[in-house]
Amino acid sequence: MSIKLEHINYIYSPGTAYEKQALKDISLEIKQGEFVGIIGHTGSGKSTLIQHFNGLMKATSGALYYDGKNIYETGYNMKELRSQVGLVFQYPEHQLFEVDVISDVCFGPKNQGLSQEECEKRAKEALELVGFPEKYYKQSPFELSGGQKRRAAIAGVLAMRPKVLVLDEPTAGLDPRGRDEILDQIEYLHKNTNMTVILVSHSMEDIARYVDRIIVMNHGEKMFDDVPKAVFAHYRELEKVGLAAPQVTYIMHALKAHGMDVHTDATTVEEAAEEIMRSFHD
Ligand SMILES: Nc1ncnc2c1ncn2[C@@H]1O[C@H](COP(=O)(O)OP(=O)(O)OP(=O)(O)O)[C@@H](O)[C@H]1O
Ligand SMILES: [Mg+2]
Repeated sequence: MSIKLEHINYIYSPGTAYEKQALKDISLEIKQGEFVGIIGHTGSGKSTLIQHFNGLMKATSGALYYDGKNIYETGYNMKELRSQVGLVFQYPEHQLFEVDVISDVCFGPKNQGLSQEECEKRAKEALELVGFPEKYYKQSPFELSGGQKRRAAIAGVLAMRPKVLVLDEPTAGLDPRGRDEILDQIEYLHKNTNMTVILVSHSMEDIARYVDRIIVMNHGEKMFDDVPKAVFAHYRELEKVGLAAPQVTYIMHALKAHGMDVHTDATTVEEAAEEIMRSFHD
């Protein structure tokens, strides 16, 4: 499914004292199978933007197309769209509400009208995909650890077999190990299916490691939209809006400033190491 946004504006509480324009003239296109990161300081409009992707929020003006069809046209099948575009909210634990994990993960497929048997099959498959331990399937979702709650919430969306997976800060508040495990699993999913993944994150390190493309949001506007290297080349401008490039970007620039003959565009520790080794051998 290709997603296309044309001049999307979104205003909260228009005409009141609380009026707030959260999205300003956003145009972008995402093709099926892309892994896109969305980054921006707090309040820049990331969550507002991604809730447009499955039609949960409707733009104040502008158009949104899936496979060329305008979702705001009357008669558009929103229910179908919501089952194809899975959205994991910023605090996914708030999405959990059933008596046990397996029923919770079954909720989506059940809503799609599938049989109990098929729902459970899909739920188990999704829980396995996210590395959720089987011994907790019958546990109440409220008794789980933070990391397991995230996994259960992501599984609940995956059980619907979406074509597009949108994750809003899926690792916020998790320890580094839990964070890496979840992101590695998402990467695995992306590599092994043709699923589009859209990942909202505060962490440049995470974004640099996983995504093919970064969209930088700033005060409701799209500031950059490019491959990670090209975006991080603007690290001075990113700093001005409260963001930073990955740590290695700074290290590479410092090495170069000290006279080492290195390219400065490495975005991961592995790439930086390779580049430093190369400069020794040249
Ligand atoms: N329900 C609401 N009513 C009014 N304004 C809102 C509402 N929700 C968000 N906003 C405002 O819209 C802007 C964008 O908010 P949004 O939640 O999309 O930002 P964000 O980039 O997701 O932030 P964070 O990184 O903190 O999650 C902010 O200025 C926010 O205060
Ligand atoms: Mg947010």
